[in-house]
Amino acid sequence: MEELTLKSKILACQKEELAPLEQQLVEMAIQQTEKSYAPHSHFRVGAALLLQNGKMIAGCNQENAVLPAGICAERSAIFSAGAQFPNEAVTTIAIAARDAQGELTEDPVSPCGICRQVIVETETRFQRPVRILLYGKKHVYIVDGISQLLPLTFSEF
Ligand code: THU
Repeated sequence: MEELTLKSKILACQKEELAPLEQQLVEMAIQQTEKSYAPHSHFRVGAALLLQNGKMIAGCNQENAVLPAGICAERSAIFSAGAQFPNEAVTTIAIAARDAQGELTEDPVSPCGICRQVIVETETRFQRPVRILLYGKKHVYIVDGISQLLPLTFSEF
């Protein structure tokens, strides 16, 4: 028997250390937290995508009293991009969140399992990794590709 240790590489930096375009994307994700519809959890999440053609697409969580009917910020942005620009690869996604007190989270918030699987399919669809920027007041995590967040990825489709 052999023990396998799986490692993820994540870089932590300050927002100001990001390239200007990536800072802009993070700012858009932060702004999107204000537009979130989260009357049930009061946890407002914003997402912003950068597409290959340079367009930025915004998303935010949309809740519903019938819980599974709601959607996370990440999927709202990815599906919106798919509807508007079906042939454009997603190069980067930025995510930010505000807690029930209205404060931006100290630590980065990372995508839920379903959103991770949707990012897997986005990478497979466009044959390129999606760079993931997770904002927190303390630091921003830079994740180069969903495999860093979802090891042993299911992508047999
Ligand atoms: N949520 C997101 O939008 N993205 C995440 O990465 C984590 C969770 C939403 C779902 C729900 O509306 C609220 O945050 C609380 O879980």
